[in-house]
Parts: sequence; C-alpha cells; structure tokens
Amino acid sequence: MRQLLIAGNWKMHGTRASAARLAGETLQALDASTDRDIVVCPPFVHLVEVGRAIQGSSVILGAQNLCAEEDGAYTGEVSGAMLRDCGCRYVIVGHSERRALYGENDALVARKFMAAQRASLTPILCLGETLEQRRRGQSREVVTRQLHAVLDAAGIAAFGQATIAYEPVWAIGTGNTATPEQAQEVHALIRSSLAAQDAKIAAAIRLLYGGSVKASNAAALFHMPDIDGGLVGGASLQAQEFAAICRAGAASI
Ligand code: 13P
Repeated sequence: MRQLLIAGNWKMHGTRASAARLAGETLQALDASTDRDIVVCPPFVHLVEVGRAIQGSSVILGAQNLCAEEDGAYTGEVSGAMLRDCGCRYVIVGHSERRALYGENDALVARKFMAAQRASLTPILCLGETLEQRRRGQSREVVTRQLHAVLDAAGIAAFGQATIAYEPVWAIGTGNTATPEQAQEVHALIRSSLAAQDAKIAAAIRLLYGGSVKASNAAALFHMPDIDGGLVGGASLQAQEFAAICRAGAASI
C-alpha cells in the first residue's frame, strides 16, 4: 500500500508573517497521525520562515519551482541546491501555470526534473491537459507526451525518486473538480505507461490528483486505486480545510 501524500501549493500569496502563521495553524489543525506525508510549498521568500515554523513536526517543506541550471549567471533564478539549503525536500516541476504563463515547454520541464534530483529533491512532476484539449479528446495524448518528454530524458529509474501530479488545467482554481472516474482513468494511463518500462517503479510511485480538491471531494478521489494523494492549491491556504483533506486521505485507506 502506497502511503498517501498531500501537498499544499500556496502559490503567490501572503507575507512572511502570514505564511508562518498559516504553517502554525496547519500544524495545529492536523492530527498527530503520521500515516501520510504532508508537504507545504510556500513561495521562495517564505521558505525559511515556514521551515522554522514546521521544524520538529512531520510536515515537509517543498518549493514551487526551480532553475534547470545548477549555479552561475542566471539572474532571478533559484537553484535546487539553494532550495535544499533552505530545508526543502520536494519541488513542484512543470506546473501548468509555469507552462502556460512562463513558457516552460516539455524539454525545460525535463531539465528541471533532473536538476531537482541532482540536488536531492524529489520532483512533483505536473501533467495535465487544457479544457480545449479535453474537448477534442486529446487528454490521453497530451499527458502521454508530457510524461514521455521526462521519461525519455531522465530514464525510468529516475521515477523511483519522484512523484507525479495529474492536474487537468480546467480543474485548477475553477471549482470544477475532475470526477474520481475521470482522474482515475488518467492516473491508470500514467501508471501503465511507467509499468511498460518498470513494473516495480510504476507500482511504488505516488500519483497525486490536483484541481479544486476540497475536504468534500477528497475522500472519493483518494479512494480510487491509482490516486495516491493530492496537490492542493486554494484549499491549502485554509488550515482547517487542508487538515480536513489530509484526514479524508487517512479515512480512505
Ligand atoms: P486549486 O486546488 O486551487 O484548484 O489549485 C490546484 C493546483 O494548481 C495545485 O498545484
């Protein structure tokens, strides 16, 4: 049985003080049970503050993005080693907002995935189709292409130290959650694509669903056989709601 992983993507909100407060409230709201991994991903400039607030707890620190390069003249960028130095263990790679708004293509996402692993960070690789692509019946094709771009570059063994999040773009921040069946179909596709290259790695990897996850829909999603947790945006900014999602996770296994 894969242990559930619930990650909160705080996106670009708040101040150092509000981020530390949210971290504290999240810790308080979570019960003591350790039967799942919980990651919070604040903005870069809040990492140290939040790291301090969660120190000594089981909550893990993650980042929302990283540079594909390791070190040098890359103005405005943040390397994997810098994130590791701030206490991060996870990093989100290829979020749809990075792909759509900052021009990150499959090749760059693959390079970021490998840069994360070189820095001993576990990448949370995001995949997902837009509404238009879904309407055209291209969901499977798009997700397969995005996955293979990284598989071909990094190799299947790299997925032994990675997490994948299926985040249909049409479900992010819209309130339109994918149904458990819609999400399961794509998760099964992702797992079988990996299994074609290594059955053991495919069975062990955690596949998260993201897109309008709430306390009210989390249990049904996490109950599906190939959904091993969630990547939570808006709801992770409310400690009680996020904790309820984490509890839904515990109840579903
Ligand atoms: P919402 O949960 O706000 O839809 O965001 C999902 C997301 O983008 C997490 O990375």
